Amino acid sequence: MRHFFYHTKMISPTIKTGNLIIRPFKTEDAELWQTWDTDPEVQAHMPEPQNTHQDISEQLEYIKECESDEEGYYWSVETDRGETIGTVSLFQIHPYHKTAEIGVVIGNKNYWGKGVATETIRAVTDYAFSKLGIERISAEVEESNLAMKKVFEKIGFREDGHFRAARIKAGKRIDVFHFGILK
Ligand SMILES: CC(C)(COP(=O)(O)OP(=O)(O)OC[C@H]1O[C@@H](n2cnc3c(N)ncnc32)[C@H](O)[C@@H]1OP(=O)(O)O)[C@@H](O)C(=O)NCCC(=O)NCCS
Repeated sequence: MRHFFYHTKMISPTIKTGNLIIRPFKTEDAELWQTWDTDPEVQAHMPEPQNTHQDISEQLEYIKECESDEEGYYWSVETDRGETIGTVSLFQIHPYHKTAEIGVVIGNKNYWGKGVATETIRAVTDYAFSKLGIERISAEVEESNLAMKKVFEKIGFREDGHFRAARIKAGKRIDVFHFGILK
């Protein structure tokens, strides 16, 4: 039997922060993802780095999958001037344990180091705790993704531990750190 709490999946709502609009995907986003998917710097610390252009139809299919995923919320990150610069997701929501995973990509590198990921993760974390009944959020970060570790630390996530040699990157086994935050 599934145990429900007051989270039942709805369409991803728009969340406004001081500088950002975190909004549901639009079909136009898929073209931007094609650029981000083939940028080695953007892909450097992703779990399954893409290096080739995905067909636009695959990207559009992905949008549909996200919309119908009962266990996840998926958003694009837009500046207050309407430029789409990244994505964020809250996924693997577990209704009984009240847990979720979070992930972010700021695909437009012009915006790196300006606090965008911090503002985004903080807003989605607040939303998950205050509106979805989630009580623990966790994330995986590759050992050399220092910017991502810094973002989680700034928000109050703690390092729960690390999994040795958990992924292969450029032919080498690397460690993956797990971060978590409690409501
Ligand atoms: C990782 C990523 C999300 C960070 O986004 P961002 O908007 O640049 O992050 P912020 O500006 O909010 O914060 C980054 C912090 O890391 C610091 N930082 C950046 N590079 C660093 C480095 N090499 N070593 C140490 N700190 C670093 C920044 O100075 C900043 O800290 P500060 O505010 O104290 O100065 C972004 O680079 C990205 O999308 N990368 C590609 C995708 C990715 O790796 N996603 C995460 C997968 S787990």
